[in-house]
Amino acid sequence: MANTKVSSNKLQDKVAIITGGASGIGEATALLFAQNGARAVVIADVQDQKGQQLVESIGSHRSTYIHCDVTDENQLKSTIEATVHKYSQIDVMFCNAGILNACSQDVMDFDMAAYEKLFAVNVGGVAASVKHAARAMVEGGVKGSIICTASIAARNGANRAVDYVMSKCAVLGLMKSASMQLGKYGIRVNSVSPGPVGTPLLCEVFGMGKEEVEKVFESKYWLEGVMKVEHVADAVLFLACDDSVFVTGHDLAVDGGFKFDY
Ligand SMILES: NC(=O)c1ccc[n+]([C@@H]2O[C@H](COP(=O)([O-])OP(=O)(O)OC[C@H]3O[C@@H](n4cnc5c(N)ncnc54)[C@H](O)[C@@H]3O)[C@@H](O)[C@H]2O)c1
Repeated sequence: MANTKVSSNKLQDKVAIITGGASGIGEATALLFAQNGARAVVIADVQDQKGQQLVESIGSHRSTYIHCDVTDENQLKSTIEATVHKYSQIDVMFCNAGILNACSQDVMDFDMAAYEKLFAVNVGGVAASVKHAARAMVEGGVKGSIICTASIAARNGANRAVDYVMSKCAVLGLMKSASMQLGKYGIRVNSVSPGPVGTPLLCEVFGMGKEEVEKVFESKYWLEGVMKVEHVADAVLFLACDDSVFVTGHDLAVDGGFKFDY
């Protein structure tokens, strides 16, 4: 969908890092950032082949793939240092890497080991991303934009995946606190909260293909139609660029008015 749009230059000369950028929402956002004139888009992920392919499709002159497991703070730190070294600054940090456990994780059947693994990615990974991006922006005197991926599940709760819901509530708390603390440096911190969208994350847990997942949720939005990753990417672009220059501490839901009743 984003490919059919007329490109603009909303991110002209900007350098962006996207964690979890090799797939789904991150991939769509990387493509949209590139279409909008970003000087460089750095894909930080653990899926090396997908990440490299995305760099090829964007163009290796303005995109780089870095293997970065967000649960390892040192890898995040060196990803950010390598980006600053290569492109001289970071303007946009999209803290997007996330996982969803396949086990049900309802309250009476809560797997603590699975919860800890999920929190290491969804919470620890985002906290370390915000920490090191903010440090690099402050050191470089960049009035940057940090965007985290939360979820509408954090607003509503869910009948399963309690650890996932908890992790996204934590992301909202982090985003709100970081926006308060970083405002004095001119750094904005916001989040997007997508509704269910047919990415590998959801397809794997549902054991379905993308079209099947889309069918499950098709009638669940107040708006007609199906939610796509490009809808989320559009919201991330808004929060990344100067269109949202006086927006901070905001969680932007992108869910078509999802009827949260499952
Ligand atoms: N798909 C949905 O319905 C939905 C809804 C709300 C929020 N989200 C959130 O959107 C974000 C992106 O997910 P998606 O739906 O695009 O799924 P996805 O599986 O397509 O993308 C997630 C990416 O994160 C990467 N990743 C996972 N663990 C990592 C780690 N330790 N270090 C670095 N990268 C890692 C994966 O390799 C993958 O490329 C996640 O935070 C997810 O929780 C998704």
